[in-house]
Amino acid sequence: MSSSLDALPETATASAGTARFRPAIHFTARDTWLNDPNGLVYYGGLYHLFFQNNPYGSVWGNMSWGHATSTDLLHWTEHPVAIACDEAEDVFSGSMVVDHGNASGFGTADEPALVAIYTSAFKAGSEHSGTQAQSLAYSTDAGMTWRKYEGNPVLTRNSEHFRDPKVFRYEGDFGACWIMVAVEAQQQKVVFYRSDNLKTWDFLSDFGPANADQGEWECPDLFPLPVDGDPDNIKWVLIVNVNPGAVAGGSGGQYFIGQFDGVRFVPDAGSLAAPSGVSALGDSAAAAAALQQCLWLDWGRDCYASVSFSNVPDGRRIIIGWMNNWDYANQLPTAPWRSSMTLARAVRLTAVNGSVRVVQEPVLGGPAADEQTTFGLLELRDSAVRLPDAVPGNAQVIEAEILPGDAEHVAFHLFGNEDGSSETVLSYNSATGRLILDRRRSGDTEFHPKFASAESAPLVLDNGALKLQIVVDHCSVEVFAQDGKVVLTDLVFPEQGSAGNRLAVTGGPATVRTLTVTTLR
Ligand code: FRU
Repeated sequence: MSSSLDALPETATASAGTARFRPAIHFTARDTWLNDPNGLVYYGGLYHLFFQNNPYGSVWGNMSWGHATSTDLLHWTEHPVAIACDEAEDVFSGSMVVDHGNASGFGTADEPALVAIYTSAFKAGSEHSGTQAQSLAYSTDAGMTWRKYEGNPVLTRNSEHFRDPKVFRYEGDFGACWIMVAVEAQQQKVVFYRSDNLKTWDFLSDFGPANADQGEWECPDLFPLPVDGDPDNIKWVLIVNVNPGAVAGGSGGQYFIGQFDGVRFVPDAGSLAAPSGVSALGDSAAAAAALQQCLWLDWGRDCYASVSFSNVPDGRRIIIGWMNNWDYANQLPTAPWRSSMTLARAVRLTAVNGSVRVVQEPVLGGPAADEQTTFGLLELRDSAVRLPDAVPGNAQVIEAEILPGDAEHVAFHLFGNEDGSSETVLSYNSATGRLILDRRRSGDTEFHPKFASAESAPLVLDNGALKLQIVVDHCSVEVFAQDGKVVLTDLVFPEQGSAGNRLAVTGGPATVRTLTVTTLR
């Protein structure tokens, strides 16, 4: 049985009102709903992005795996639905491996199969009705058509909330095997399994609750990286997405740093803000403080379900998240397409004051045909400088290194209208030492009561300098501060024609060392 639908569904024409929100360098499905990135794999010279997709509509439902490919992680081609829901199951999130050794028997040693490991969310009518279990699908034509394995599901716990398997190849002291990292979502547990052939799985251990645990744990990932490039200092990153209960409210991604020995994940003490979980601290100031101390991939409202690509050459680790928040995801004011992915982000580990932390760099490609405006050294004091406007159809990258000095606020005003009544403001507040992304007056905020918000992250100046890389793309602002140590992502839906950008300094003098605005053509 081939599980691919023959073609994409009929297209509806995007109304002019929402076409202007369509991003230039972030993936959106052509005319349907999407959520989590799934099955991220580099294969045959292409990055494959599978994704939670409703092939029949613009809200969550009929969950299937959509499919898109890219050579540069910026421009994507959407393909027909890869793994479709049917009468028995919805096809929930999961991952993909290249079965190089043909342990599954789905391919050959010369032409390995791509194997998707996904969650079957069984429907009424299925003999497994009401449970979530792990299943396989495979492709022997480089990901274009898919078959579900007739022996599905391959791993069940008779649980209603066992999902989101991430599988990777592990090689350690006890030999090589496949490791699966999945969740018991409502128990706030990551569960670890091993397999030799992807079809039979043995339980190894579990981890959690710990740190942010005030919602379901979803979409985990686990991978090793060298600290500051040192091959003799390898740490493991365990990503655990949480919904709700993230630091900015609703859904968000946290991570732990530690060791994985092929059986068990042991977190470093320095990555545990609340060893038994924030919820064990009750409704206290200590709980609120602990939530701030958890390790967040992103401090904004709109970065969820981040997971990494497998099989990327040169040991690069690249993640993509879903640029949305379950608080209001189904109500975003775009149709028929709804939701996009974040930019791909290359992740590394670095030591910060003795603790290991993730840093992220957006994958933006070369500057080839871009248009760039560079400003000379600027001294600003209760004054502003106008930056190039946003250009419809293009994304912008604003890069700056600023010494806030005695200024109270250094603020980028983005997507502004003429009288400044509508804008999105990214500001550094010297008194609190926080970076704030404020979308309360960003345009259309009315579509959901939880959308109008201001998010903030603690930020340590680097020898007195604020370093920002801001990627602005039609309906989003992604901020990479202090060389990627602090990341904030928010959706915004600006008013028609609100395209003005400026940098303003208030409450004292600040020095703008470097400032460049690049319009990506
Ligand atoms: C996360 C999630 C996953 C699940 C999928 C269903 O956003 O809830 O846990 O597999 O979405 O679409």
